[in-house]
Amino acid sequence: MKIIRSLSEMKAARAAAGGSVGFVPTMGCLHKGHMSLVELSKKNNTATIVSIFVNPTQFGPREDFAKYPRNETRDIAMMENVGVNIAFLPQAEEIYPDGFDTWVEVKGITDKLEGAARLGHFRGVTTVCSKLFNIVQPDRAYFGQKDAQQVLVIKKMVSDLNLNLEIITGQTQREPDGLAMSSRNMYLNQAERRAASVLCKALEKAAALYLSGEHHAERLKKVMAELIVAEPLANMEYISIANTSSLHELELIDSPALVSLAVRIGRTRLIDNILLAQPACV
Ligand code: PAJ
Repeated sequence: MKIIRSLSEMKAARAAAGGSVGFVPTMGCLHKGHMSLVELSKKNNTATIVSIFVNPTQFGPREDFAKYPRNETRDIAMMENVGVNIAFLPQAEEIYPDGFDTWVEVKGITDKLEGAARLGHFRGVTTVCSKLFNIVQPDRAYFGQKDAQQVLVIKKMVSDLNLNLEIITGQTQREPDGLAMSSRNMYLNQAERRAASVLCKALEKAAALYLSGEHHAERLKKVMAELIVAEPLANMEYISIANTSSLHELELIDSPALVSLAVRIGRTRLIDNILLAQPACV
């Protein structure tokens, strides 16, 4: 595995790569969720490139940029083990040099859910992904359904700006109790870790009710909220049942629906989601 830190070296390596290139952008502290995207890429491409960059512009001023978990040595070993071809670890000074002043912003769907809760978050994500796509020039880029709105926003950007790559979505990978894997799970203490399974339990409950014929969004949300309120370490931020492409909230679930939620477990903010009419999460 080649480890590349400079943009010029990355561009040269890309130019030299024959065949198709699959790209998995990450912020590191890799886990099985990231690795499942690597596996998908390896199946469909000649070479797989993984980037690790904790992108400062997608964190709000009161968010966890400074303490976001970083573990480069472990990440490099994990990437090497699964046969990643290039680990791309750019430096912040090269991604955002002095005077950097250009932003890529998707409107509309970024007003809702994570975009409403984390102002400016998606502007940071779309800006850094545009830059990474331009530097790496992949044929395909892989994103996890765990961050469902991020996938929609990236696909919209690729379509609106005629970017020349395909976006592929990988399923959410979960711990045995259903908790969606996330680098932020590292923040949880033992009691919080147990409490965190309430996100998945609420989604599972909504899916089960939906399958038993309850199609009123408010009733599903009420049952989910009751479960979360009953967990003393949990503080609900939002529960949404929305159309999977527009993210408009649904009253009656008569179109494909994304059930998503953000919950604070102690001081840690976790998100999860499920598509209705699919099997429940555990
Ligand atoms: P990060 O949170 O590191 O996630 C990198 C990729 O892994 C994202 O596409 C995310 O959806 C996916 N992922 C995370 N947890 C997952 C899980 N449990 N199952 C499947 N996939 C999972 O998302 C980002 O970084 C950043 O916003 C980034 C796109 C790199 C831009 O900075």
